Amino acid sequence: MAKKTLKIVHVASEVHPFSKTGGLADVVRSLPKALRRLGHEVIVITPFYGQVLDKKKYHLKEIGHDINIKIDKDNALKVIFWQGWLMEGLPIYFIENEKYFSRRKALYGSTHENARFLLFNIAALKLLIHIKFAPDIIQCHDWQTGMIPQLIKKGFDKNQYLSKAATIFTIHNLAFQMGMDWWKVPLARKDFGVKKIPAFDDPRLEYINFAKRGILNADVISTVSESYAQEIMTPRFGQDLHRILSNRSDRLFGIINGIDYFDYNPVTDPGLHKNFSFKSPERKAVNKAYIQKHFGLRQEPRAALLVMTSRVAEQKGFDLLAQILDMLMRMNLQLVIMGDGDKKYISILNKYHKEHAKRMVWSPFERKRETSLYAAADMVLLPSRFEPCGLVQMKSSRYGAVPIARDIGGLSDTISDYNPRTGRGNGFEFKKYNAQDFLVAITRALTEYEHEENWKELVRHVMQMSTSWAIPATKYVTLYRSAIKLKEKNGKK
Ligand code: GLC
Repeated sequence: MAKKTLKIVHVASEVHPFSKTGGLADVVRSLPKALRRLGHEVIVITPFYGQVLDKKKYHLKEIGHDINIKIDKDNALKVIFWQGWLMEGLPIYFIENEKYFSRRKALYGSTHENARFLLFNIAALKLLIHIKFAPDIIQCHDWQTGMIPQLIKKGFDKNQYLSKAATIFTIHNLAFQMGMDWWKVPLARKDFGVKKIPAFDDPRLEYINFAKRGILNADVISTVSESYAQEIMTPRFGQDLHRILSNRSDRLFGIINGIDYFDYNPVTDPGLHKNFSFKSPERKAVNKAYIQKHFGLRQEPRAALLVMTSRVAEQKGFDLLAQILDMLMRMNLQLVIMGDGDKKYISILNKYHKEHAKRMVWSPFERKRETSLYAAADMVLLPSRFEPCGLVQMKSSRYGAVPIARDIGGLSDTISDYNPRTGRGNGFEFKKYNAQDFLVAITRALTEYEHEENWKELVRHVMQMSTSWAIPATKYVTLYRSAIKLKEKNGKK
């Protein structure tokens, strides 16, 4: 008998192309699409960031005006519901509130982040009732949606549309747990996850740990790679939540992300100077010459082009890079770093850019240029301190740029070390988080790069690796079915 199709809701604080600061936005765009293509009924709910989002461009339709959201007994706020489309048959809903979302220029960063996202969580559930959508599954992405599992258990548990919904809390990055930094919360104020939520206008609301609440209350917990699922149960990576996660290890699952093969395809990508496929990797040279020209680099076809396109943050290993820049500038290579973030590192990168303009570039992130960089690059650098999944290695591989990466988290699960004798492997890895080992991995890659025929084979191989959503999406469906069973079982107790 064919299994019942599921009604699935994804709730997240960012969804590409409507809003984006990181990989989360890509996942919440592409996973719902993959699920829809498997035949499930899927919807997405996200905040409406008025300053960021172009209502007209996306033909958004207002579906609920001045909806009253009662947050607690003394506090209520009005919101507006909007609807657009992520693709045919896949609606996306937006929640607008002038003060908490629309007036702001940035997605995040205020002294009342918890209040903002508590409002969002309650309003998201109200939206489901408003559109009469009774989900089998609500997948909550990262801390900004962490209160939903608790609300479903208590508060909305009697609601005819929501009482049966099973919840899954998905961790994209455990470093982010709440509006403020968990490590900055005074000891006496730390949230153990059991107390009643303070009133909306009570400043203590900002001490509530949303991620912890999500982990404690969801029917299942997932994260974005199998390795990271193991890592976060240890004190080193658990960000103080490792015990809670270990206690719930029977409900914690790792499913690697995928990328959308329609969005990332070197054969059809309109952003490339010249399209190519694994059958014609030599065309990468044309893209390389183009990028060299664009960024004012020397036109050197045989200088290996290394790129980095991540957020400029400590997590991404910029301290390691900073330690070896001098050395790199003495090697036969060129370096393009495109990304925004930490000013400390950007000023270092800028300094090198000025001193070595023909060999090294730092530029702010430009979405439209991302894939053209992968198409041009010979290698991408991913020296992350920790990496829940990482999407860059998947995207860049599609475009024939070989990853040089730390053997950690999702990078471990998607990259295996290249062995020149057997020709196996799809990247160059290093284990310990230190600059020397990173440099050794780069040197190994550069040595291989000198063997033109082998390198071409490696590029071909890397381009053919499968990192689409096809497999991960079916794993999610299996996980959803277990979550539904667990919810039913607990309900009967
Ligand atoms: C976060 C993680 C990254 C992951 C992405 C999408 O940005 O840091 O590793 O790929 O979420 O899940």
